[in-house]
Amino acid sequence: MPSDRTPLLAASRRSIDSAHSDERAEAEDNAIRGASPTREGWSTRLREIVLFIWAVLATAVIIVLAALLQHNESGAPGDKPTGKRNLIFMVSDGMGPATLSLTRSYRQLVEGLEYDDTLTLDQHFWGTSRTRSTDRLVTDSAAGATAFSCGKKSYNGAISTLPDHSPCGSVMEAAKRAGYTTGLVVTTDITDATPACFASHVRMREEENEIALQEIGEGPLGRVVDIMLGGGRCHFLPNTTDGSCRLDEIDVVKMAQEDHGWTYIDDRAGFDTLWAGENVSLPLMGLFASNDVPFEIDRRNMADMYPSLSEMATTALRALELATSQSDKGFFLMIEGSRIDHAGHINDPAAQVHEVLEYDKTFKAVSDFVKNSKTESLLVATSDHETGGLATAWQSPSAELPVYNWYPSVLARANASTLFLTQKFYQYLRAIKTDPDAHNDLEHWINNTLVVPGLGITNAHPSELKKLASDPEHAIFTLSKMISNRARVGWSTHGHSAVDVNVYSSGGRYADDIRGNVENTDIGKFLSKYLGVDNEAITKELKDKISWKEPSLAGMPLEDVMVRMNSEMEEVPEYWLE
Ligand SMILES: *[C@@H]1O[C@H](CO)[C@@H](O)[C@H](O)[C@H]1NC(C)=O
Ligand SMILES: *[C@@H]1O[C@H](CO)[C@@H](O)[C@H](O)[C@H]1NC(C)=O
Ligand SMILES: *[C@@H]1O[C@H](CO)[C@@H](O)[C@H](O)[C@H]1NC(C)=O
Ligand SMILES: *[C@@H]1O[C@H](CO)[C@@H](O)[C@H](O)[C@H]1NC(C)=O
Ligand SMILES: [Zn+2]
Repeated sequence: MPSDRTPLLAASRRSIDSAHSDERAEAEDNAIRGASPTREGWSTRLREIVLFIWAVLATAVIIVLAALLQHNESGAPGDKPTGKRNLIFMVSDGMGPATLSLTRSYRQLVEGLEYDDTLTLDQHFWGTSRTRSTDRLVTDSAAGATAFSCGKKSYNGAISTLPDHSPCGSVMEAAKRAGYTTGLVVTTDITDATPACFASHVRMREEENEIALQEIGEGPLGRVVDIMLGGGRCHFLPNTTDGSCRLDEIDVVKMAQEDHGWTYIDDRAGFDTLWAGENVSLPLMGLFASNDVPFEIDRRNMADMYPSLSEMATTALRALELATSQSDKGFFLMIEGSRIDHAGHINDPAAQVHEVLEYDKTFKAVSDFVKNSKTESLLVATSDHETGGLATAWQSPSAELPVYNWYPSVLARANASTLFLTQKFYQYLRAIKTDPDAHNDLEHWINNTLVVPGLGITNAHPSELKKLASDPEHAIFTLSKMISNRARVGWSTHGHSAVDVNVYSSGGRYADDIRGNVENTDIGKFLSKYLGVDNEAITKELKDKISWKEPSLAGMPLEDVMVRMNSEMEEVPEYWLE
């Protein structure tokens, strides 16, 4: 009967407990007195020892079973795959944490989504990365990408070169050497710092014409890239050609085709012959803009003249998948959302949300690829640094109280980047150079042509129009301020900041190495480890083959090196583009 059993159990437990505590008390007393345990004490001890051994064995069996199971399911940290595998590394240049919240809220507004609707990136949050370089707490993209490509810290401006000015082997060079097929996809110049670090070595990022040569295969290791898609055509054309930005007569495109076997395309029609990656003959170089591919906010209004980041990325993925289908090695592809950074430099929040939405779309396409691939595949994504010191709050200097809000609707009304509008402004100024009437009417023209249809701002203050008309040199910043202030979005710099950036991944056991808060070099080391390749052997080979004799700029503080954003912006004031 239950009512009997309960007290009985309770009683027996109590007696066991008391017997136990009596025994323990007795043992303790004996120990204090220095006497040996009684005979009865020995038999109890023996029973305890047997029980103890049994418990230890049982625990050991459980641990072994758990370890075996884990090996099959989630794995231990430090694990790496052994078979064929693909790695896709994505870089959101200049994207800090505030940009995510900016873009998320923007998308919720324009698409009428719930407050808990998130970006694809948000659903793959993996950790954060610290970004400083060797010489600065605020890194540039060159030192940032060197951390990813070599797994080593270096100085601002370094392209896979160490502080002692010796080259360091990159993960892409090591991957190519190990038999992987490789690719670079960007929306800026293919010779810009981030892609450059994977396939070239120079001491200063400004040496883009040299980078172009190394990228096609003229470097000490020969060709290490199989597909390159992006902008920066001007670095590949001889100085005798329109649209060249080379200082010499080298025809890099011709050299690429004749000496290194590249297929070359330079426009949308050429891109369309690729059939989304189904009709690609490697090596393939597609340079679709003289410099940058236009900001997404502008590109989408340009009748598909330029491929988007997601189009280039999915094309490269398919091409690499097909190229490696019969190989026992997979591929390594680096994809950069390059111009999130540029929108940050010019403090244009509307341009930035469109860059990030396109990056998020690309991330989704890549993570779907990873999910569906029959080959073991991994996606890792992070930023090299934040740009602009963006804040999703701004208190007007004239306002006494903060407003607990910011206004995505202001960004939603913009139809062009402030860069695009500034270029349009300069074209107009050139056209009316000798027309005093047009000059008198300039504020009116600015309001009706740039501010109302471009920024979507119908309440421009007369002082704002006056500033634009009288100080065209700073027009881009005035326009950016007009939109940022109305949206109550703040910026602290036209350069980069030191805030930690987010890391995203398709996840799985192998990515445990970069979980939590890591150093940017940990991500670089992880890329090589996942692929199972050896950067050090490449470093050794490079050191034997490269000898730099000419004096280096590398010791010069980068503030002293003014860099133009690109030649399409030649009338725009120069920026600090570290
Ligand atoms: C083009 O480059 C050559 C050197 O390769 C140089 O001698 C020449 O002056 C350059 N021309 C122009 C127009 O820059
Ligand atoms: C496939 O690519 C080749 C160049 O590699 C091109 O000549 C051909 O026209 C392309 N095919 C189609 C159907 O676009
Ligand atoms: C946005 O700009 C494009 C091209 O610049 C134009 O065709 C379109 O009508 C504009 N939309 C609005 C709402 O102004
Ligand atoms: C700018 O244009 C808008 C729309 O036409 C107009 O309502 C506004 O008064 C103009 N602003 C100025 C300062 O002229
Ligand atoms: Zn930058």
